[in-house]
Amino acid sequence: MIKIAPSILSTDFARLGEGIAAAEKAGADLIHVDVMDGHFVPNITIGAPVVKDLKKVATRPLDVHLMISNPDTYIKEFADSGADIITVHEEVCTHLHRTIQSIKECGVKAAVSLNPATPVSSLEVILSSLDMVLIMSVNPGFGGQKFIPEALTKIAQLKKMIDDKGLNIEIEVDGGVTVDNVAEVHNAGADIVVMGSAFYNSENYEATVKAVHENCKK
Ligand code: DX5
Ligand code: ZN
Repeated sequence: MIKIAPSILSTDFARLGEGIAAAEKAGADLIHVDVMDGHFVPNITIGAPVVKDLKKVATRPLDVHLMISNPDTYIKEFADSGADIITVHEEVCTHLHRTIQSIKECGVKAAVSLNPATPVSSLEVILSSLDMVLIMSVNPGFGGQKFIPEALTKIAQLKKMIDDKGLNIEIEVDGGVTVDNVAEVHNAGADIVVMGSAFYNSENYEATVKAVHENCKK
């Protein structure tokens, strides 16, 4: 069954705890936390101190997506703050293998994200060290953007690469996922979908979760 990770980027930042509780009540599997530094991406969001407080209220794993230029500097802080999964961007990691190891040394699941222009082949050598790969289906920085359809090809390529190597790695897809396109994303090979605006702007979160599961069954 597809897992849903609502992105709190699209909830009210003054009421993050309530946004998380409502998502969990509706059946969210993970809580996606978008960390942006105003450098790797144009937007600035939240840091480790906020993650630490979110950890006190969240009952689902915190899926922390670091859209920051120097992830190595902050990995321990985010791990200590309660991140359950830490995702770094391939595009900013000069020594990606070392970065992955340092995430794992903190006892946290390690994931790498690929921007829309970064090929899946960039992960071939490192794949067996990962717990999850995050395929960006928009250019990172903002919620509410349109899904880039070429991402479907990348998801399928990655799925094949994982299966050919006999690995157990989850594929997460982030950006522009909606109730209407989630089936395509799932059929291409996604195990987890991030949903920001399509989740938090919906009128009924429970109905949205139900619709995602129903559409993915078809
Ligand atoms: C974009 C973020 C996403 C964002 C997704 O840079 O990484 O997680 O919140 O939002 P939607 O689902 O609205 O595209
Ligand atoms: Zn994200």
